[in-house]
Amino acid sequence: MYDVDKIRQDFPMIVNHPELIYFDNGATTYKPKHVIDAVNSFYTDYTSNVERGDYETAVRADRAYDDTRKIIGRLINCEAKEVAFFANITAALNQVVYGLSKQLKKDDTVLLTQAEHASNLLPWYRLKEEMGINIAYIPVDLQGRIDPDSLEKCLDETVKVVSVAYVTNVLGSVQPLKEVISICHKHNVLTVIDAAQAIGHRKVDVKDLNCDFLCFSSHKMCGPDGAGVMYGKYDLVKDMSPLLLGGGMNARFSNDGTIIYKDAPYRFEAGTPNIEGVIGLGAAAEYLMNIGLENIHQHEVELRAYLMDKMLKLDNINIYNPDDESGPITFNVKDVFAQDAAGYLAAHKVCVRSGNHCAKILHNIIGTDQSIRASLYLYNTKAEADRFVELVSQIDINSAIGIFF
Ligand code: ALA
Repeated sequence: MYDVDKIRQDFPMIVNHPELIYFDNGATTYKPKHVIDAVNSFYTDYTSNVERGDYETAVRADRAYDDTRKIIGRLINCEAKEVAFFANITAALNQVVYGLSKQLKKDDTVLLTQAEHASNLLPWYRLKEEMGINIAYIPVDLQGRIDPDSLEKCLDETVKVVSVAYVTNVLGSVQPLKEVISICHKHNVLTVIDAAQAIGHRKVDVKDLNCDFLCFSSHKMCGPDGAGVMYGKYDLVKDMSPLLLGGGMNARFSNDGTIIYKDAPYRFEAGTPNIEGVIGLGAAAEYLMNIGLENIHQHEVELRAYLMDKMLKLDNINIYNPDDESGPITFNVKDVFAQDAAGYLAAHKVCVRSGNHCAKILHNIIGTDQSIRASLYLYNTKAEADRFVELVSQIDINSAIGIFF
């Protein structure tokens, strides 16, 4: 039995700020006490660097840091050695792109969608500029969803990589990934998945998906900021060139300039990592797995349907993603600039994101580069949804402008 009231007690931000309605989970999530305690414990009981010390607290830190690889292995169904830690998904995706650039050549094509976040566009754009690869976009419908048949039509012999979000960050479109990946593999095309908005919201199983790479951030799944994951099939990452070079990632180097990298995943982790962030990420994954990813997903699906049903009855808004099962609800209040409407909500203690949400070519699909995004998570409630709808219904050109807190 999913007990949202009990879950809310786990989150100090909710306990300390019961007045807030936090519907900005697409941007970042609140952290449960379990995660805060894990980070605190590192600071207060065993602060040390990792992979460098032979004393007791250092060994304890090594274990806690490396254990997170196993925990993430359980979360996404992969081996620990396939999990490399980065500062966030942006850094992880930049590593994937840099690594794959070594096997791409001029006139090869990378397929994306216009619904992608900047982190899954700009690193590829740089390869276009520097190497002359082609960038092309898989057609999507008005809610950002890929139709597998139209993907197949895009796959000529120049296409080498398809890089797409699992759940897009503005419209929340859930891509038919199993089909997409299976079609790609039939054409020997590698698949890179941005799972930032999927992780922690649903069961993500890299074996079942059969994706080649999948990246995500800790802070969007109840973990600390400053930690992220690159999953890559071991055969693909074991010889991959690391983007960052420095301490910790090399086995040896000599004065003639030769460098021997460590095996993956350590070769990708140059410099002192965000140890407490990674330990907190492990605690977050455990916390979510204890509740059950299917249960969390079910809660979000039900809550979204409840909220959507009420929002569809409002005649002062346009909703861009009415049909999706999960993910955020993205809308505009008629005749009101998105940030003004978000300001009205903020003045009433409601947290949403407004603007282009880092998806700056999405306007080609939805026809606007300004929208309000209400993104839900495991601790949100129907009472919050009711209050949200009440407030949104009050917004008009007169109420919204000039209200700040
Ligand atoms: N990528 C985050 C978002 O979509 C920040 O809001």
